[in-house]
Amino acid sequence: MATTTLTTLAEFEKAARQKTSEFAWSYVSRPGKDGQTHTDNRQAFKRYRLIPRNLRDVYIRDTSVTVLGSKLDFPVAIAPTAVHKLAHPDAEAATAKGAASMNTAMVLSSWSHCSLEQVAAAAPRGVRWFYLLFYRDRGRMKRLLERAEGEGYTAIVLTVDQPLFNFDRIINMRRTEPLPLQVSFPNIWLDDDAHGQPGSAEHLAYLKKIVKEAATWEDVEWVKNNTRLPVVLKGILSAEDARAAVDLGISGIYVSNHGGRQQDGLPATIDVLTNIVRAVGGEAEVYLDGGVRTGTDVLKALALGARCVFIGRPALWGLACNGAEGVQQVLQILKDELNLTMARSGCAKISDIQPSLVVHESYYL
Ligand code: FNR
Repeated sequence: MATTTLTTLAEFEKAARQKTSEFAWSYVSRPGKDGQTHTDNRQAFKRYRLIPRNLRDVYIRDTSVTVLGSKLDFPVAIAPTAVHKLAHPDAEAATAKGAASMNTAMVLSSWSHCSLEQVAAAAPRGVRWFYLLFYRDRGRMKRLLERAEGEGYTAIVLTVDQPLFNFDRIINMRRTEPLPLQVSFPNIWLDDDAHGQPGSAEHLAYLKKIVKEAATWEDVEWVKNNTRLPVVLKGILSAEDARAAVDLGISGIYVSNHGGRQQDGLPATIDVLTNIVRAVGGEAEVYLDGGVRTGTDVLKALALGARCVFIGRPALWGLACNGAEGVQQVLQILKDELNLTMARSGCAKISDIQPSLVVHESYYL
């Protein structure tokens, strides 16, 4: 199917489902437990309504924004997601190309098929951040930080909402499916690692041994003190944690519930955004992901104080449908929808998007 006929992210989702194997589809779309948080991420956006301002000169609009010092053409970037080869053979290199072609940022996951270096080579001018895992051995972390810095990544993302990895689930998956586990994870292994054949039991046991589960603030502080790059904490839902992060000198507070894939029963990200923005008090940038599917969602999140939003699954839908071009198309749709929603809301530039543009439906009750 020609993806040029697809005009919404919902259409991309349907097309991607047809294109991917049952296993890949269930891995990408799987919500945690009953899927309450996953569903609520979407539903919550719909509970906020827009109150447009009219008769403002919106004939020319500028959607650009600066995020951690990098200028992006619009405030939608790509969240870190694992194993892109499930969606397309060119994997993360293609995703990075798609993001760079739209002049926006991508966060590369540690659980990727392409190395930091391959992704940098694929999109040398793209804005790239790196999601670093916590390891027991800080020497390993230091070496990975140096690789990211050397390859032009401009921020380090620490995902803090996943204190435990379900290695047993991974081992079970390995029994039935060849992917994503026959992958050497080049952003986890170091050259001198003796980690066994990718996908082997030895390989997984090694992984379990080196990854540090249940990281703490002390680990975050160590990363902060051992890189010259700004650090972003991803997975923040509590105002207290946001405040503690800012007090530690963290540059970006990334509000996320992991797309509803980890703990179920968490609030929708858009519902906790205001509290977090208040706690941060302008001392760090605030981002959000989870259920962003339309330009209207983007505008609502920005009105409530996010500087930029991220998309997880939709980028993989684009990748599955049409590689780098599919990723570009998904981003273009969001950019165009945001642009139109801005015009209809009386906003010529991103700084015109103010809290008064949005009202929660409970206001009417
Ligand atoms: C993820 N997510 C994720 N997060 C992270 O910090 N590191 C990771 O490696 C992954 N891997 C991953 C794989 C897949 C297949 C998905 C769908 C998600 C979570 C991701 O960064 C993001 O928080 C959510 O995907 C955002 O929600 P939406 O946009 O998918 O609704």
